[in-house]
Amino acid sequence: MAARSMRHLALVHGVNLDMLGRRPREHYGTLTLAELEERVARYGRDRGFAVGTFQTNHEGVMVEHLHHLAGSDIDALIVNPGAWTHYSYAVRDALELIAAPIAEVHLSAIDEREEWRRRSVIADLATVRVAGKGLEGYFEAVDELAREVAAGRAPRRPEPNDD
Ligand code: DQA
Repeated sequence: MAARSMRHLALVHGVNLDMLGRRPREHYGTLTLAELEERVARYGRDRGFAVGTFQTNHEGVMVEHLHHLAGSDIDALIVNPGAWTHYSYAVRDALELIAAPIAEVHLSAIDEREEWRRRSVIADLATVRVAGKGLEGYFEAVDELAREVAAGRAPRRPEPNDD
């Protein structure tokens, strides 16, 4: 596929995900982040997405990167914010600025682990949510986002006062 007809997909990871490969494998598998990014980029490329990757352990850097993405021409976003998922209203508010469909992906089954992991403060912004499927979950998110983009559907956004 010619480069100019590619859609742009941002793949964004948050805190501690640079430690993949060294974190408990029963939850996070054995791939390093670089390997995971490479596999998702290849999968995305085969489905018409140019995939840009980013990871940080710093909340403010994450927020600024999301601001940057909000002002860019991305067509879709996959985000795994790590532990920020469960409490970072700053990351949540920054995600709200993104005008493209968002997939929230977790390697582990957050709903089947500790109580505090069951809450996601970004869930209502996500068009697609996948957890507990490891790398396959990212592939599923790419497929779902490809469908959303092809259909030209508006990204999911909360109703005002829908708390
Ligand atoms: C995670 C789940 C989070 O609860 C955890 O803090 C992570 C990774 C996952 O991919 O399963 O760092 O987002």
